[in-house]
Amino acid sequence: MSIVLPAYNERGNIEPLLSQLLVLQQRFALEILVVDDDSPDGTADLVRQLAHRQPAIRLIRRVGRAGLASAIKEGLLDATGDLAVVMDSDGQHPPSAVIQALEALIAADADLVIGSRFHQEAEINGLSGRREAGSTWANAAARFSLHRAYAALTDTMSGFFALRLDRCLPLVRAVDVNGFKFLYELLAVSKGRLRTQEVPLSFQPRSYGASKLDLAIFWDFLISILHSLSFRVLPRRAISFGLVGASGVAVQLLVTQVLMVGIRLGFEQALPVAVVVAASSNYLINNALTFRFQRLAGAALLRGLLKFLLVASLPVLANVGLASAYYSFVDRDTFWAQLAGILVVFVWNYAASSRFVWNTP
Ligand code: GDD
Ligand code: MN
Repeated sequence: MSIVLPAYNERGNIEPLLSQLLVLQQRFALEILVVDDDSPDGTADLVRQLAHRQPAIRLIRRVGRAGLASAIKEGLLDATGDLAVVMDSDGQHPPSAVIQALEALIAADADLVIGSRFHQEAEINGLSGRREAGSTWANAAARFSLHRAYAALTDTMSGFFALRLDRCLPLVRAVDVNGFKFLYELLAVSKGRLRTQEVPLSFQPRSYGASKLDLAIFWDFLISILHSLSFRVLPRRAISFGLVGASGVAVQLLVTQVLMVGIRLGFEQALPVAVVVAASSNYLINNALTFRFQRLAGAALLRGLLKFLLVASLPVLANVGLASAYYSFVDRDTFWAQLAGILVVFVWNYAASSRFVWNTP
């Protein structure tokens, strides 16, 4: 049996957890894989020392932080047990849940058992009211976007689950590892084929350190939902780029208003300023969210901005041309004319800036 523990800056939490998990050796041929993303607090060095004394502990050390979902995938692909359990390494998931989940997996002949924080008998001590409300909302959105065979699941975002590797490995391979939500992605790619079960999980407060869930991770999740709703056809990055573009439209309208009403500029003077502000805001948000794994900083950030404005200025001209051509030759409908223009701008900006600004294919 393999336990996969993704860890990032968990030096203060992982040692007590490991010693509690090692007790399971009395019942199982046990392997514990800690997947560390080069934590600056020295988690990996600590685990390495512990592994000298305990051969059941294995360390997977990665450089260049690739995120939680990617760490889980890597751990599961390297696991050698028939059964595997994935859990947080910060102590928020009680080790006693491991046995409970494995027993449920075997008794129900299930493929996947989820430790649910929202099960009727579950307990949540470690989530703020806001996080709990957010999770409930996210679960509802997730349920809506997943196959209906999973409609009864109460926690598709959980970080605690047990699975049969022989049956799940092909799906694990196919999981798209952007973001935090490995379980959600596994359910999404399996399209209702997994036999699932839930057990209650009592979620505990963290002893040391802080949660790594931030705005960027929330953003990734929103993109995952839209990606599923698009039948996984639209590339995730394009969805993100499109949402950011929509925010730019709002910025542009707002800045134009402020300049015209606030300092009484004419429309012709206000518009270019608003366009540049909106494009710069798009650039910064894309850099922080859409392309954060290629994130630019310092002088490169400024150079990137100039390139982005250059890349974006071409289609602005094309957009005006296209919209007016559509208007004069195809249909005298300003709405569809503008939409056609915007679509062309979007495709161009997305393709060109991925390639030239953030150097991604
Ligand atoms: N290797 C690696 N790389 N591990 C990571 C990374 C990363 O980039 N980010 C987080 N982890 C590890 C943490 O060290 C911890 O063991 C576990 O993943 C969960 O991270 P937390 O930062 O503690 O998440 P949380 O407690 O706020 O979120 C909980 O709820 C989420 C759903 O709302 C966890 O149970 C998550 O697993 C769950 O998805
Ligand atoms: Mn946690």
